[in-house]
Amino acid sequence: MKAMIIFGSTTGNTEAMSEIVSKALDENEIETITANVTEVSVNDLKGENDLVVLGCPAYGDDEIELQEDFEEFYEKMEGSLDLSGKKFAVFAPGDSSYEHFCGSVDFLEKKLKELGGEIIEEGLKIDGDPDDSESEIMDWSASLAKSL
Ligand SMILES: Cc1cc2nc3c(=O)[nH]c(=O)nc-3n(C[C@H](O)[C@H](O)[C@H](O)COP(=O)(O)O)c2cc1C
Repeated sequence: MKAMIIFGSTTGNTEAMSEIVSKALDENEIETITANVTEVSVNDLKGENDLVVLGCPAYGDDEIELQEDFEEFYEKMEGSLDLSGKKFAVFAPGDSSYEHFCGSVDFLEKKLKELGGEIIEEGLKIDGDPDDSESEIMDWSASLAKSL
């Protein structure tokens, strides 16, 4: 089984979280590639991977806004991309003092479903520093591996 993690990260938290997810997937026999969203294309969402995991924090105030590098990627998803038969999961670190705690997770899940994709596990939302929630992230990743 193969997975790709695509992350966008401005201050490093999502990148750190991606590393934990990647480690856990590898430990569960899933061969994992991790890439910054700036280095991939939307066609990677429908590539040969058995699972694509998106990591994207929210950067809004009153409304949900995606991390800046993810914005461009998201706009390209708007086209005629058909993700039927493809499996996805979404995660984010966030801050529960904001109105839309990790709103980016719900936002991306909605779009992936609209495009025909399957969300195999409820998105993971971590409040604060991901390094403080390593076991929760490892458990979530292990359940992703089992769902494949
Ligand atoms: C201007 C600004 C807006 C933010 N908006 C939200 C938000 O709406 N919801 C949320 O959960 N976190 C919000 N955050 C917190 C970030 O998503 C959080 O710090 C995250 O860990 C950043 O990830 P990164 O280090 O990978 O860039 C916001 C942070 C900033 C600076």
